[in-house]
Amino acid sequence: MGKADRKRWDGNVKSMAIVAKPREDITEDDVAFLRDNYTSTGGLLPNAYAGGAFYTPTHVARFIIEALRGLSGGSFPQGSRFLEPSAGSGVFIEHLPKDAEVTALELDEISAKVTSLLYPHANVINDDAFRHALRDYYDYVIGNPPYGVTIDIAADDLPDNYETLKVTKGRAKGKSESAFIELAIKSAKPGGYIAFVLPMGINYANYAEKVRQLLYTTCWHVATVMLPGETFALTGTTIPTQILIVRKAPPVTPLIPSATTKWSSNFKRGGHEDITDFDAKFLVGQPPAYFAQITDIGYDKDGKSTDKWGDGRTQLDELLNDFTDDNLTRENLYPHIPSWHSVKDVSAFMFSHGNGSCDGYRDASYTYTGGPYRWNELTLGAGEEIEWRGEFVSTFDFTWQDQIVAEYYEGLAESLPAAA
Ligand SMILES: C[S@@+](CC[C@H](N)C(=O)[O-])C[C@H]1O[C@@H](n2cnc3c(N)ncnc32)[C@H](O)[C@@H]1O
Repeated sequence: MGKADRKRWDGNVKSMAIVAKPREDITEDDVAFLRDNYTSTGGLLPNAYAGGAFYTPTHVARFIIEALRGLSGGSFPQGSRFLEPSAGSGVFIEHLPKDAEVTALELDEISAKVTSLLYPHANVINDDAFRHALRDYYDYVIGNPPYGVTIDIAADDLPDNYETLKVTKGRAKGKSESAFIELAIKSAKPGGYIAFVLPMGINYANYAEKVRQLLYTTCWHVATVMLPGETFALTGTTIPTQILIVRKAPPVTPLIPSATTKWSSNFKRGGHEDITDFDAKFLVGQPPAYFAQITDIGYDKDGKSTDKWGDGRTQLDELLNDFTDDNLTRENLYPHIPSWHSVKDVSAFMFSHGNGSCDGYRDASYTYTGGPYRWNELTLGAGEEIEWRGEFVSTFDFTWQDQIVAEYYEGLAESLPAAA
């Protein structure tokens, strides 16, 4: 074990001694120690023993919360409901407004206790997340679920059916990252946002096909931000990850064909081919999808700072403008003529277009040399109008979604019996 790991190990051992004390004996200094030193066992023990406990760096969690704040019009509505279904030591909660309703689920007893000590305003539930039964409830589901761990729970303990878990002999089992995404979709309310840190494998791996389909048929793609391998270096892994932000669409939202039927490459790699055969469909209201690639997370693989200007800012801060200026930057990024034409399974489009062979990536890497690269991928069209409920809506309209969500809730209100 190297010096840094030894320091982490010692910090965890002392943290465990603190949480073992009766609550009334835990001092403010103890809590401060936990905040600075408790990191759990991710990277120190084999993954299966550590329950996939690799905690998110605080600036990454902050970026996610601030991006969601921007997407919500600059502030979170008072009393917004947040779910962190695999809370660890609660790094995401750190950045939430204090008046929010926060529910944190965590299987590991020590981590759950640390979270409840650090964030006494949160409702911390020390239990298996898959027993959580609230549906269509949360405005935001956030976090970094465990990857590569097998969920294994008594089928009778599940509140409802999970497509990503397979039941044999009374046990429901499946890949943790897929099952946590399904849990998030179930728990978010229509119009609610889901923002997770996820392994890149979700985009293409066979095991994730079901959950990709689920995302594709139920959620609008908002943003994919690819993170470099160094992101989790301080917690002992170099797995490439991404931040995926999606928004749950109302249940009746249909998939409709893209209005763009021709493809051409900015790099003259192809002509103006007819691409109707790809039969691309997207949810009504889907705007062009935002993609970004971070090339420097603020430190190298050994944790040494790469902050050239000494101002503590990283490329993530640069990207935040895209979400916080009324999404203007995000909307005005150069959109790339549909890249999905090359994807045999269009449901994978939203999640797979961060690779070096895609035109958007290539153009963005020339435009923003050094990074971060960012661009839009076209979905429903290259600006053509689409007829929707007797009106024409531009395929570049980023407010269409809000309108669909508002109409859904108006419809619900109308269908309720009038108050006596
Ligand atoms: C990748 S860590 C992330 C923790 C935290 N979200 C963060 O980003 O720092 C995943 C966490 O999920 C917890 N976990 C694993 N399986 C779980 C389950 N079935 N229910 C609830 N929590 C679980 C682990 O104990 C671990 O703390």
